[in-house]
Amino acid sequence: MTEELSGLVAIVTGGGSGIGLATARMLTARGAAVACLDLDPSPAEPLTAVTADVTDERSLRDAVDAVAGRLGGVDVLVNNAGIGAQGTVEDNSYEEWWRVLDVNLLGIVRSTRAALPYLRASARAAIVNTCSIAATAGLPARALYSASKGAVLALTLAMAADHLDEGIRVNCVTPGTVDTPWVRRLLDAAADPDAELRALARRQPMGRLVTADEVAAAIAYLAGPLAGATTGTVLAVDGGMQGLRPRSPAPLPPPGAPDGGGGAHPPPAERRGEDLPGAVQA
Ligand SMILES: NC(=O)c1ccc[n+]([C@@H]2O[C@H](COP(=O)([O-])OP(=O)(O)OC[C@H]3O[C@@H](n4cnc5c(N)ncnc54)[C@H](O)[C@@H]3O)[C@@H](O)[C@H]2O)c1
Repeated sequence: MTEELSGLVAIVTGGGSGIGLATARMLTARGAAVACLDLDPSPAEPLTAVTADVTDERSLRDAVDAVAGRLGGVDVLVNNAGIGAQGTVEDNSYEEWWRVLDVNLLGIVRSTRAALPYLRASARAAIVNTCSIAATAGLPARALYSASKGAVLALTLAMAADHLDEGIRVNCVTPGTVDTPWVRRLLDAAADPDAELRALARRQPMGRLVTADEVAAAIAYLAGPLAGATTGTVLAVDGGMQGLRPRSPAPLPPPGAPDGGGGAHPPPAERRGEDLPGAVQA
């Protein structure tokens, strides 16, 4: 049987870790030739690892041209590289505002500009942007990060409209909190990592973090020909966090459970997670 993505070349920015690496592996498993562009592109064969910085126009253009030359064009671009920021609208320095927008938003602009000439030459061109639940739900202490991802969502729709006639589909995914090295770093920095993990899991109606593979599968679907009639969409991969209002937010462990669960009726702040002082969120 022919693999769904056989014959396609894909570029994944931020493909050295987490969601990007899981996506690169999944695209490869489905038949694509995949290049990971990253500041630290650690992946091994069969992935092509290329060092590139999405804030550096020259570095990106060189990387995209090199991948297209080596793998034979570019059919799929996954704009996934991103960084986080914590704080209210008054907390982050203007330097940090520029830095996060430069990576999370302008990084997509640069990667897309570099790839467009190749995408226009493809009969099955697709762009998938990694957005976030932070674009569609108000999360406390995430003003800058949310602003960057809200811009990614709006840019996704605008790009989908602009490149419709060229046959280039543009979509995005909005993950909830995903178990990646990024989130593990945040948890490690928390005063009580286990309590933080439980709070984050309970915030999502399914009662657990999303896996990187679950986000990768959504990206791979949007990137492939089975999504051939799908453009300008926002696909949530968030354990129900955006759309559901269950009476019981998440299955709770009984009192005295091995994870130290807080019982059937924990205080509201513990259930919501985001209200905990210094709570971590992606
Ligand atoms: N983990 C989550 O809970 C979560 C939730 C929603 C959205 N996201 C989004 O998913 C994407 C990936 O997140 P992750 O959790 O896999 O993080 P991660 O830190 O595990 O991986 C991010 C990768 O991006 C690379 N990167 C960072 N800056 C770069 C730059 N300037 N140029 C090139 N590469 C760069 C890093 O080196 C790293 O390999 C991000 O856009 C993030 O905003 C993550």
